[in-house]
Amino acid sequence: MSVVLFASGLTKSFASPGGKIEILRGVNLEVNAGECVSIRGESGAGKTTLLQILGGLEKPDTGELRWNGETVTGKGNRFLAERRARLLGYVFQSFHLVPELSALENVTLAARIAGRPAKAALPEAKSLLVRVGLGHRLDHLPGKLSGGECQRVAIARALVNRPPLVLADEPTGNLDENTGESIMRLLLDMTRERGVALALVTHSPAFAARADRRLILRHGELHEGESL
Ligand SMILES: Nc1ncnc2c1ncn2[C@@H]1O[C@H](COP(=O)(O)OP(=O)(O)O)[C@@H](O)[C@H]1O
Ligand SMILES: [Mg+2]
Repeated sequence: MSVVLFASGLTKSFASPGGKIEILRGVNLEVNAGECVSIRGESGAGKTTLLQILGGLEKPDTGELRWNGETVTGKGNRFLAERRARLLGYVFQSFHLVPELSALENVTLAARIAGRPAKAALPEAKSLLVRVGLGHRLDHLPGKLSGGECQRVAIARALVNRPPLVLADEPTGNLDENTGESIMRLLLDMTRERGVALALVTHSPAFAARADRRLILRHGELHEGESL
């Protein structure tokens, strides 16, 4: 089984007025190809910080990170950006779509960032938007879409480059319960259908229960477990 995400001894501290606070104290994690792991933890436990480090958006103080078996810690920004575009999809709580671009352009932009001509990615971007239920909204700007629709666009964007791994940080956190349920089902179904591994941060024990493996971030470390 190939390991798509490997983290060993990740630490991260932030300066605060009261002194340095250690958020991550030695996180170890291995996610296999196609596997879904959930990560829960108290508010402020460091889940977003961890996901940003796992996604190369933030650097750890110490520790090693590998994507698809390749070490990425200590590499330059250009290397990171290239690998990130190709290997990772990211779904954020607050969608992070480009407001001036249509739904379709938001998805093809991710392909362009990964070095694919927009034209080549167009059929796939369209079919992903159809799959997430937005075939009739291709030309809509994010401002004209509901929160749930924006997150559907973000899921299509995360998958357009066929990455082996998607990272999702409370993807239903800004949605009402029913919308959140349908978004979660879509994310779990679409990653499973495509054999894409998923690291899912969620507050919801019910959503976490649908993962192959459940992890808790507590005192700066990841543990297998069900309860905070
Ligand atoms: N860039 C930063 N600078 C200083 N403190 C930060 C920064 N990012 C996060 N923190 C702090 O780290 C802690 C963990 O934050 P976060 O990773 O957002 O937790 P979670 O997502 O689990 O709620 C919080 O106390 C937060 O205030
Ligand atoms: Mg968070």
